[in-house]
Amino acid sequence: MRTIRAVVVVVTWSVAVAGCGDDGKVAPDAAVHPDAPAIDAPAPLLTAPELAAAHALSPLPAPPADLTNAYADSAKAAALGQMLFFDKSYAGPLAVGDDGTNGGLGAVGETGKVSCASCHAVGSDGMDDRRSKPNNVSLGTDFGPRNALSVINSAFYTWTNWGGRFDSQWSLSLAVAENAKIMNSSRLAVAHLLYAKYRTEYDAAFPVALDVRLADTTTFAATGKPGQPAFDGLSTTDQAIINGIYVNYGKAIQAYMRTLISRDAAFDRFVAGDDGAISASAVHGFKLFLADGCVSCHAGPDFTDNQFHALAVPQTGLHVPASDLGRYTDVAALLTSPFNTSGVYSNNTTTGKLTGLVQDNAQKGQFRTKSLRNVALSAPYMHAGQHATLDEVITFYDQGGGDPGASGIVKDSRLAPLGLSTQDRADLVAFLQTLSGAPVAAGALVDTSK
Ligand code: HEC
Ligand code: HEC
Repeated sequence: MRTIRAVVVVVTWSVAVAGCGDDGKVAPDAAVHPDAPAIDAPAPLLTAPELAAAHALSPLPAPPADLTNAYADSAKAAALGQMLFFDKSYAGPLAVGDDGTNGGLGAVGETGKVSCASCHAVGSDGMDDRRSKPNNVSLGTDFGPRNALSVINSAFYTWTNWGGRFDSQWSLSLAVAENAKIMNSSRLAVAHLLYAKYRTEYDAAFPVALDVRLADTTTFAATGKPGQPAFDGLSTTDQAIINGIYVNYGKAIQAYMRTLISRDAAFDRFVAGDDGAISASAVHGFKLFLADGCVSCHAGPDFTDNQFHALAVPQTGLHVPASDLGRYTDVAALLTSPFNTSGVYSNNTTTGKLTGLVQDNAQKGQFRTKSLRNVALSAPYMHAGQHATLDEVITFYDQGGGDPGASGIVKDSRLAPLGLSTQDRADLVAFLQTLSGAPVAAGALVDTSK
């Protein structure tokens, strides 16, 4: 406690002097002149610039508002979203069956085997709790190309997914549910699910009640999505009705995910003044984190600049595709999506988020800077789970990142060999381990699906 305080005093003093502060706070602090070190005072753990950098990383504030979802902070929408997050019943047929290593998924062709929680087990930091499986990437109704991201604290990101495929969290669920490799469901199946199981909750959360024609399959077939006659054959008006219901499904799930917040990590307690909250090794690791430029990308209280960078992590590992252009591919899909924040289903189309965004060669191989909060809980690492441990990740950075070869990917110029010692690497890992926060509120982790 004492050592950090001493530095705070110095900072306050110099700021007050620099700004000629006349707020009455100068007098008591000025009594401790920074040029007059107290005899026997322990050396401060952090220098003044390091302390200022620490305060830029902690504490974690409330998640940013999302005005594109009018229900983002509705408790009723969140309660419905929680039920939907755990509900497997609307998942379509499995393309990959259980071979004894993939978590008892089921047999090929079986339906109702995958929920959001299958790959985001909230009890395991929102991660795929089948990570003991030998795969680097996620398995839903089929193998996908990337490693599952945590849903804990995901509400802090400006762009959703490794490649920034979504500009809102509500639009993610819409693509995920219909993706043949993830849940293989359809918007008509979701509309029927809501009517059959969650009608009361839906009608309580949203202003327009569910269409009563969902009571049977005369107008709306049991399943169907764009590209399929059951959906394409509907009138434009009925398509818009189904899309509106489907969007509310996504908005309810986002409202739930915004409640999955984990803060108060050991590092936060350290920054708040508890010198003993983290080990000496972790303190040194933090200094390296600053000195080696990690913080230039892993910036701010969520340890991400919300930007995209190419590290040239090799595309290796079981079921990992040979190529993944990241942001380049994802931007194209985002810009053409009817569910982006500029579209008619967004509650605020004036965020300007997509203004000027175009697909650009520079985006090739770029991925979003991952938040490092709770990172010790989320192995394997990187967009395709290429690294099994944090030590492996640090070794990768120590070597200056990957080799883009002839891929056309331009590696971020900030990556250069670091010359870390074995102890330095261990210290960086020790620091990353101090970023695990308190568990999410227990009630949020309960499977409330019907
Ligand atoms: C088959 C496993 C699987 C299922 C099922 C699944 N996800 Fe994911 N999820 C992933 C993967 C893999 C990613 C990263 C995808 C990418 O970047 O391309 C991801 C990313 C996310 C993210 C982005 C977090 C961030 O850091 O931006 C959120 C939020 C999310 N999923 C929520 C959901 C919801 C809600 C559902 C259910 C509607 C769901 N997921 C179903 C595997 C899955
Ligand atoms: C140029 C920006 C940049 C710099 C500098 C940087 N990172 Fe990263 N970091 C990223 C990006 C981007 C990813 C995701 C890359 C991917 O999956 O392809 C990432 C991923 C990670 C991951 C994996 C997280 C996970 O859950 O998979 C860790 C750990 C990490 N960085 C730690 C560090 C450390 C420690 C340093 C300093 C030695 C550092 N980073 C420097 C941008 C950066």
